[in-house]
Amino acid sequence: MAERRRRLIEVAFPLEEVSEYSRKDPYLGSPHPQTLHRWWARRPLPACRAFIYTSLVDDPGNDKEREEILKEVADLASWDAVRKPDQVVRPREKGGSGLTGRQLLERARQRILECNGGKPPRLLDPFAGGGAIPLEALRLGCEVEASDLNPVAVLILKGTLEYPQKYGRPLAEQVEQKRQGKRDSVAGVDGEVPEYIREAAQAGNGGQVSFTEGDLIEAYRKNPLATDVRYWGNWMLERAREELAEYYPPDPDGSVPVAYLWSRTVPCPNCGAEMPLIRQYWLARTDKSKAALTPVVDHEVKRIDFDVVEGSAVTGDPAHATTSRGDTACLSCNQVVKAEYVRHAGQRGKLNAIMTAVVLDTPGSRGKRYRADIPGDMETFDRAGRRLDALQAAYDGDLSLVPDEPLPYDPQKINVQLYGLDDWGKLFNARQLLLITTFVSLIREAHSSMLSVRLDSGYARAVATYLALALDRIPGENSTCTRWNPVGPKPQGALGLQALPMIWDYAELNPWAGSVGDVARAFAIEHSAVEFLCESVGDTRASVTQLDARSVTGESVDIVVTDPPYYDSVNYAYVSDFFYVWLKRSIGTVYPDLLSLPLTPRKEQIVMSVHSDEYADEVDRVSAARQAYVDGMAKSFTSMGTRVRPGAIAGVVFAHTDPNAWATLIEGLLQANLVSDASWPIDTEIGTKLAGMSQAKLKTSVWMACRPGEEAAAEAFIGDVLEEMRPVIRERLLYFWGKGIRGADFFISAIGPALSVFGRHSRVLRPDGSEVGVRDFLDLVRRESTEVALEQVLVGADLGIVDPITRQFVTWLWSYSRAPLEAGEAIALCLATGADYHEVVRPGSIAVEAKEKSKKLVKLRTIRERGQQDERLGEDSPARPAPLIDQLQRAAYLWGLNKADELARFRASLGETRWAALRTLGQAITGCLPDGDDDRRLINGLLGSSVMASAAPKVAARPTKAARAGAPLPGFEEAGQGDG
Ligand SMILES: C[S@@+](CC[C@H](N)C(=O)[O-])C[C@H]1O[C@@H](n2cnc3c(N)ncnc32)[C@H](O)[C@@H]1O
Repeated sequence: MAERRRRLIEVAFPLEEVSEYSRKDPYLGSPHPQTLHRWWARRPLPACRAFIYTSLVDDPGNDKEREEILKEVADLASWDAVRKPDQVVRPREKGGSGLTGRQLLERARQRILECNGGKPPRLLDPFAGGGAIPLEALRLGCEVEASDLNPVAVLILKGTLEYPQKYGRPLAEQVEQKRQGKRDSVAGVDGEVPEYIREAAQAGNGGQVSFTEGDLIEAYRKNPLATDVRYWGNWMLERAREELAEYYPPDPDGSVPVAYLWSRTVPCPNCGAEMPLIRQYWLARTDKSKAALTPVVDHEVKRIDFDVVEGSAVTGDPAHATTSRGDTACLSCNQVVKAEYVRHAGQRGKLNAIMTAVVLDTPGSRGKRYRADIPGDMETFDRAGRRLDALQAAYDGDLSLVPDEPLPYDPQKINVQLYGLDDWGKLFNARQLLLITTFVSLIREAHSSMLSVRLDSGYARAVATYLALALDRIPGENSTCTRWNPVGPKPQGALGLQALPMIWDYAELNPWAGSVGDVARAFAIEHSAVEFLCESVGDTRASVTQLDARSVTGESVDIVVTDPPYYDSVNYAYVSDFFYVWLKRSIGTVYPDLLSLPLTPRKEQIVMSVHSDEYADEVDRVSAARQAYVDGMAKSFTSMGTRVRPGAIAGVVFAHTDPNAWATLIEGLLQANLVSDASWPIDTEIGTKLAGMSQAKLKTSVWMACRPGEEAAAEAFIGDVLEEMRPVIRERLLYFWGKGIRGADFFISAIGPALSVFGRHSRVLRPDGSEVGVRDFLDLVRRESTEVALEQVLVGADLGIVDPITRQFVTWLWSYSRAPLEAGEAIALCLATGADYHEVVRPGSIAVEAKEKSKKLVKLRTIRERGQQDERLGEDSPARPAPLIDQLQRAAYLWGLNKADELARFRASLGETRWAALRTLGQAITGCLPDGDDDRRLINGLLGSSVMASAAPKVAARPTKAARAGAPLPGFEEAGQGDG
């Protein structure tokens, strides 16, 4: 049989460089495709670019050439290659390719064409979201098919891929393509520069639209799309300013309000005062400035106002104000009410708000000022409210002026509805609503004006789409879920963590203050994102559709790369409704089909969400939700698998710490007969915690290159599969260890390589003929990778003498540091380490169970907790010999109590070999604990003490970096003989 051609991704990948660029990607600021519109869990562009590139080119088959291509892939993955295309990315002397970004891209496109029969390969991404994968495919010269179920994502995809590709090119080129019958729609008016642009160009800076640079007509000819987005953005801004500026007046001294700070209130059940719900009084808490609110209570009339104190006048503890998790103290009568009362008050419509202070920028002076004298501000605010009422009274649209669609029920992530904020419009105050609804109607007006001056209707739709996407930045930044962060000091918009928690003291922003929340800034960012995208998309075609990934049918494609939903991490339908309700109002008539549903589709969405209404009648909602996710993944992978042409790669990206999430992903892949051939843990998650994950942090996402499996794959017995799997896992893990992959990421990085062996068999059987399931497979992978990890952490040790409880402790600490684990995860770890879970959480043992928000968590005990609770800690009992970890902790505890004699006796009772083993263990453990940790301090103290030194004089007090990274340590070498 002919040898199958191997793609580069199946042999090598520049992991370190791509990880480094990917880590920085989310922080690069504008211009960047991600600034077009918020989407959650976007993949970093460098990782997408490098993965697609290496999946589409052949491995050259020799080290020298491979090395050269890898350098080019690494350099092309950098941002410099894109932003400074005429500069050499990395000179050859520094290990780089010595090529400029432009040369690298040219070579990549050429190489991809050569390896794919001279035709641009076609890429499919059925879970395309914010479009990172298809965008990079376009850059590399592929044709793309991008789809997503969510209409907000589809609009972002159109704005990222389709419109720049179609209308972001020179006008003359568009006209020529139309003449050749290659397109039906062109920018401008019949392909000409529209009259309004000519007028604006003539008017110059003094005209209606203040373009300040370049020749406007020339700019239009070169890129009509970006120019129109800028023109119509300015058109709206000018009108909005005329209508709204009076509601945001400057102070008489010229200072500009940046933010109005509010506190929510409920009536006190005892004295009737409106009780401010304030989490903290701080306004500014930086090295250079300190300012805080201080309450002023008029007990007679039961009224609470505020003053601002600054610098040394700030006293007490402003970090604690009136409210903690909803429990609130009344400043008037000192009555404390429980969160439940606040919730009920909110649900009965009694949640109000008072303005507490105004944040100001003063011309000519640096830093922010704060004032609490607010009567004038309240008058202005009330006027804005009356204006909104008048608009509502006069409004006769099909949809309500202010969104009244209900919020979803998902109390762990969106808890505002527990306090009566139960529709999307209630997340804004009256002036914020006046601002957003004014822009909404201006977008509709702008679109009608575009049609009335005879802009092509398809093109006008594209321009209106960008205006609406830009507008969404305003509710995102400026709602009653916007927090004032005194460290900065600066506002922080909603939905940062894919959740909408209740914000008690919120910041309302001035849309003309020139900083976050500024409307001109929103449109400027949009404009530069459009320009950037137009330069990125190349010449090949992009098609964008709204589709359920289970039903992607059509011709075969040359590659699939996709990033499916991560189990329970993000409920896209729920969070995107925040924007959807506004998009329906601004461009609903422009997209009558796409935006026809009241809210984004939930039923077809693939997510593990127990709150979904779909499972309302199920007895076991968790199983039902999980099953729905498994089925959804399996069906979409199967459907995707039918589209990949034989021999092509299907790339799948996944990130999660929960074994259940991995099990469902793998079940889906196996059902679709997709076998992982190579997998690369790319450091893309920047230590973030995706919502829904346990406490453990994950830094990598795993990028798997799969191929459709052979039709009649053989069955195999687990013994044989394990024999084949072990060296593969070991080889890959040692490689990843060398690349700095650690902790939770290390276990996860073993899954792909193991699957490449396991997945090749139609069934894997135990000796009794029963089938080894995916969960058993994951347990095996964990056990194997734990073994490799322990070898690395306890360097040179005979792991035979390291008992299961000690293994559990070390592996936990190394993988998750001190983070508590969900019980399921702790049990999964036990399966890998061989520890008995009951022994792990038995009274007095290394960990303790705790309940937190209906979750069972397991936490590691500290040395002091254990020492104080158990005076026989570390002593053997007839029932169980003491684990090594108990003995180490006892010794450290005694050292902490300064009980030198007792410590010496304890040491003598253990014998020299065991004592030396404690030292190696201590060094491994302190390497896993953060600075300042009490256990670390105690163990380091013990390691540096004379009692330890006399056992092994060469040992340093603190483990060196080299020791932690794996230099051999004495101690365990002779431990195999065991005397303790
Ligand atoms: C992890 S995100 C993709 C992110 C994307 N790669 C990016 O960089 O922005 C997963 C996507 O799957 C989409 N999705 C969920 N269920 C779907 C379904 N049944 N069909 C198609 N897309 C779905 C979500 O809307 C979400 O955009």
